Amino acid sequence: MDGNGRWAKERGKERVYGHFEGVESVRAVMEASVEWGIPYVSFFAFSEENWGRPEAEVNTLMELMGRAMYNELHNFMEQDIRFVVLGNRARLSDALNADIDKTMAATAANKRMTMILFLSYSGRWDILQAAEKMAHDLIEHPGHAVGPEDLERHLVTADIPEPDLLVRTSGEKRISNYLLWQTAYTEFVFTDTLWPDFRKEAYRKALEEYASRDRRFGKIK
Ligand code: IPE
Ligand code: MG
Repeated sequence: MDGNGRWAKERGKERVYGHFEGVESVRAVMEASVEWGIPYVSFFAFSEENWGRPEAEVNTLMELMGRAMYNELHNFMEQDIRFVVLGNRARLSDALNADIDKTMAATAANKRMTMILFLSYSGRWDILQAAEKMAHDLIEHPGHAVGPEDLERHLVTADIPEPDLLVRTSGEKRISNYLLWQTAYTEFVFTDTLWPDFRKEAYRKALEEYASRDRRFGKIK
């Protein structure tokens, strides 16, 4: 989700206004995903690097996250959505962690769709923390021939499938330390649309582009 700040600036407003409007786009994409039968939808909300932003913006984003979660709970229950937060939870405040735990526990048995919010996440952090755990496994099982599954079981995404499609908004064409391991064969769609303008129509277009791709996974068809 990129371009909130620019969206606000274009309108002569504070960056935070773009973040508020961005929450509406999350809701729109979530609702369209339910309607179209998409089983997993993920949002990269805040990276490990984003902690380096001015304190006021970080605080606003964290407050916004907690409030949005609280406001959406009835929606998650009504629409049978399982809500999951993945990332370096140790860096989040106790209050936010408590809200996250509550929302995750309340929605844990929901079946229709899983919505994942990546918070304080980075791909390198994920691989590192998984590698550390895998190293412990290897001490206990010396001589074990290591395969990808030995690392994957420790990634924070262990129980969710690899993404088929990754959309980056706002004209930037990079992965910015998002799911590095998990996007090995993901299709990428880049759009100039700023995140607050990324609603149902923009989402439909991205899915249409995805549908036109020929996925071979390194093989020959
Ligand atoms: C939102 O967009 C993404 C977050 C990290 C919350 P930005 O805040 O990066 O907006 P731009 O890129 O400055 O326009
Ligand atoms: Mg940005």
